[in-house]
Amino acid sequence: MQRTRPILLGIVGDSAAGKTTISAGIEKILGPDRVTNICSDDYHKYNRVQRAEKNISALHPDCNHIDIMQHNFYQLRRGEAILKPVYNHSTGDFDPPVYVEPKEFVIVEGLLGFYTKKMRDAFDVKIYLDPDEELRVDWKFKRDTVKRGYTREEVQASLDKRIEVSTNFIRPQRKFADIVCNFYRPDGAEEETGTKLNTNLILRPTIHHPDFAEFIDHRPGTKEKCLTFTLGRDEGLPVDILKITGNIKQMTAETLMDIIMDHLDKVDDLTTDGVGCYTEGSEKKVSYPLGITQLLTCFHLMNAKMNT
Ligand code: G6P
Repeated sequence: MQRTRPILLGIVGDSAAGKTTISAGIEKILGPDRVTNICSDDYHKYNRVQRAEKNISALHPDCNHIDIMQHNFYQLRRGEAILKPVYNHSTGDFDPPVYVEPKEFVIVEGLLGFYTKKMRDAFDVKIYLDPDEELRVDWKFKRDTVKRGYTREEVQASLDKRIEVSTNFIRPQRKFADIVCNFYRPDGAEEETGTKLNTNLILRPTIHHPDFAEFIDHRPGTKEKCLTFTLGRDEGLPVDILKITGNIKQMTAETLMDIIMDHLDKVDDLTTDGVGCYTEGSEKKVSYPLGITQLLTCFHLMNAKMNT
């Protein structure tokens, strides 16, 4: 049997935009044995002390080995193993590099994955995570104080310091994504509201999406306000927008997942177990908008695989 090359998924977004959470679910659906997961934070050029001395942010392209990253993406795409650097978030320094062999699917998540055209062209599917800023800031506080040991003041200082570099280098990558995923709070909700968050999925015509219009208009019981599919404009160009609210009925969400799975089942065994799951503190929760986004991404990865 002819071996197809690995399929590459790029997930880009600002710090604490949800990259790790979304990729964990995608890995679950496809099966961990088939997925190699890489975080491009590993390509930072300087450790934490050096960054402070140079007064340069980890988000800045000059602070990352863009050329090596790019080179590694293409090696992975060709099915070649790489020697990948390792940035340790606990120590703020580098661990010894690791040997990484690409499996059937490679997920690259990080801050600058779509920075150059050549990098973008390495990906079969490109996702940009664009949660509402207040939500991202909330997530950033939670992650950096709980998991990374920073104080609230330190996180605030880091957020303030990064506004410019984020505007100049991270956010402009949004326009290159096939899917932009915008999580936002329901009207009036002041707290994070976890499972109740809504999402707008901006679907660009750069890849072929399933026909949601047909599903929403014709399947019984699905014509609800919690699921709408409209034509919109984004970055000046026409796009489809699939809006899923967090209060979507389980049955509707599952029907929508089924329709995506219908396409997928033909090509492979996949599981929806654990789709949309995430942890809040020590609690396990499920978000249907997140699950549908993960499943839709898998649909595109399988499609790319079939066409390779
Ligand atoms: C942010 C980014 C990380 C990056 C880190 C480096 O938090 O989200 O992806 O690696 O900055 O900074 P630090 O010094 O906190 O490890």
